[in-house]
Amino acid sequence: MQTNIPRIMAVSSGKGGVGKTNFVTNIALVFRSLQKRVLVMDADVGLSNIDIMFGIAPKYNIKHLLAGEKSIKDIIAHTKEGIDIIPASSGIREMTQLSLNHKMKIVEELDRLDANYDIFIIDTGAGISDNVTFFCSAAHDVIVIVTPEPTSIADAYALIKVLYREQGEQNFRIVVNNTRNITEARATFKKISMVAERFLGITLDWLGFLPYDEKVKEAILAQKPYINLYPTSDFSKKLNEIARQFLKKEVNLLKGGMQFFLKKAMSQ
Ligand SMILES: Nc1ncnc2c1ncn2[C@@H]1O[C@H](COP(=O)(O)OP(=O)(O)O)[C@@H](O)[C@H]1O
Ligand SMILES: [Mg+2]
Repeated sequence: MQTNIPRIMAVSSGKGGVGKTNFVTNIALVFRSLQKRVLVMDADVGLSNIDIMFGIAPKYNIKHLLAGEKSIKDIIAHTKEGIDIIPASSGIREMTQLSLNHKMKIVEELDRLDANYDIFIIDTGAGISDNVTFFCSAAHDVIVIVTPEPTSIADAYALIKVLYREQGEQNFRIVVNNTRNITEARATFKKISMVAERFLGITLDWLGFLPYDEKVKEAILAQKPYINLYPTSDFSKKLNEIARQFLKKEVNLLKGGMQFFLKKAMSQ
């Protein structure tokens, strides 16, 4: 099914290094294999690396868009698999906290692309920053990646708390990464969901889990997306399940979308 409104998925986490960018890269490829038109935005402005994961070196990035030097179409990079990417620019201080003008500009430009995509995935970066909360509040679905480590769980909860208290966000879909087995994954989900239920009164949604797999690192070092190298591994199977599960979930049309983005940006 192709509609004129892309489904916007923000991928976030409390703590860095939990596997967001690897998840975004590979799930984008799964959606592509399911015939979806996919746009990935690298919004982790401090530590951008979606392009590296795909083994491409884009000429332009969001900095050129914000400077008014290039249009959104000019900065979009294309991977050989047919995924479109809006690259971020690393190490630019002004990007780590986008101004209202910059947010408006991004939203306006993205709005023009609406009809071209089915799924729009945003790698928001980690932690509680203005950029992260902005992109999460604009998405239809907020995916929080968490690992079994206690620090990851605590930081993910802190992010959820802020998004709930400050943005009224209530729909969080949890993916547990770096797990040994389903028991560990479920136990991790239970820890975070019990706390969210008890202290915030919200129910978190279980989206799935991914195993720890040493080959993930190898793939990144080789600058080749993992799923292309090991399409039948357990990790890849689980990722496929997550993608299918995600597509089955209803879209909350009351929130998210570019127009919502715009209103939100203007109200800040
Ligand atoms: N399921 C996994 N199994 C093994 N290593 C993983 C897995 N997921 C991520 N990693 C490793 O963790 C590190 C951080 O991943 P990355 O996707 O860059 O995290 P983030 O974007 O959250 O900072 C990378 O070196 C990657 O190889
Ligand atoms: Mg990352």
